[in-house]
Amino acid sequence: MERPAWAPQGIDISVPSVSRMYDFYLGGSHNFEVDREAARKAMEFLPGLPKIMQANRAFMRRAVRHAVDSGIDQFLDIGSGIPTFGNVHEVAQAADPGAKVAYVDHDPVAVAHSQAVLEGNDRAVIAAADLRRPKEILANPEITGLLDLDRPVALLLVAVLHFIEDADEPYAAVAELREALAPGSLLVLTHASYEGIPLPKAEAAGTVGVYKNIRNPLIMRSHEEIGRFFEGYEMVEPGLVSMPEWRPDTPQSPEQEDPYAFSGFGGVGRKA
Ligand SMILES: C[S@@+](CC[C@H](N)C(=O)[O-])C[C@H]1O[C@@H](n2cnc3c(N)ncnc32)[C@H](O)[C@@H]1O
Repeated sequence: MERPAWAPQGIDISVPSVSRMYDFYLGGSHNFEVDREAARKAMEFLPGLPKIMQANRAFMRRAVRHAVDSGIDQFLDIGSGIPTFGNVHEVAQAADPGAKVAYVDHDPVAVAHSQAVLEGNDRAVIAAADLRRPKEILANPEITGLLDLDRPVALLLVAVLHFIEDADEPYAAVAELREALAPGSLLVLTHASYEGIPLPKAEAAGTVGVYKNIRNPLIMRSHEEIGRFFEGYEMVEPGLVSMPEWRPDTPQSPEQEDPYAFSGFGGVGRKA
């Protein structure tokens, strides 16, 4: 298989990546046939996957605007993905041109494409790092060179924690990040769940099987389990809810029309 110019040297393009599959669900072009094949298989079980992803992106943009409205001008977006439409730095800097955004991902294509998109933007960086090693993120010179962690930050963990298995201690990693942040900081989080999916669990579980086969397990967690990621933070109204229900821009926003958009949960917590 030929490696296109945007794909960094050394990546294995015979194995699907969750980052490139997500890019495909969102209509992006930074994916290969292996990614599309796995994504199509996942969609055989859960045809509404692209809708869920769109609801996830729409939630994220509303949460970023909410953060700017509450006076936050620094963003740490871990598991930021391959840049697409309406990225965090675009939304934040449109609302506040001085806003600073540090992206983190461990996928080489996400990192390379972010570097290309951020070229010339001196208020946004991308660091290659792993959510499972939060100490390295907090000490990363690219991040500490841009963000002042003694001031409030919005930490984004959007559609990433469901890729961290319990054995890799996601609760400990998030606790370490939460504790490192200054009072007034926000935690913006979305997570996949069987709750809300408009299909019997046994059917939706086929999708989980696809991710397991590509050795990138998708971990469905319950509302209660997802809520525990916010421990010690106060929930911003309306709490941990279906993504379209979190402060919709209009009473009947377009994503509210599709039942799939109500799969999983999103919420924002604040450190007192
Ligand atoms: C579904 S995408 C979400 C992208 C973006 N946050 C959004 O919601 O639009 C998940 C991203 O998390 C990244 N990811 C998964 N596990 C990670 C880890 N342990 N450390 C850093 N990034 C991770 C993947 O590479 C992928 O780009």
